[in-house]
Amino acid sequence: MKILVINGPNLNLLGTRQTEVYGKKSLEEINRALRKSFPKVDFHFFQSNSEGGIIDEVQSSLEKDYTGIIINPGAYGHYSYAIRDALASVKVPVIEVHLSNIYRREEFRQRSVISAACTGVVVGFGEAGYLLAVHALMGAVGK
Ligand code: DQA
Repeated sequence: MKILVINGPNLNLLGTRQTEVYGKKSLEEINRALRKSFPKVDFHFFQSNSEGGIIDEVQSSLEKDYTGIIINPGAYGHYSYAIRDALASVKVPVIEVHLSNIYRREEFRQRSVISAACTGVVVGFGEAGYLLAVHALMGAVGK
């Protein structure tokens, strides 16, 4: 099983950025926990602060044999139709993750424009959301 994990803008600052909202773990620690919890999964981790970088990664995934994609789009999730279009072209399951419960936060965060292009969404469980997303992918592909 090969999974692409995409993290969007500002998620490289996890562990120091608004820890009361996003937790104290760095992105590196979250990625390490994923590898440790699922030693048989071949993870490819990608983080970018730019919309184009994320779209390029999604597009290049089309030529690779990923079983699925996990994406935390950061703030782009609230308004990037371009990322949504890129995800809509993906044939494998895509799970959207948000560390925080976006539905309890500011109004602009309460809408995700990419969800309709995803298989499912995991919201509000902090770093555990990424682990839950792997389980969701396994369920989606019957593994
Ligand atoms: C986030 C929620 C977004 O609103 C925010 O812009 C982020 C992180 C989350 O994981 O809770 O950067 O995607």
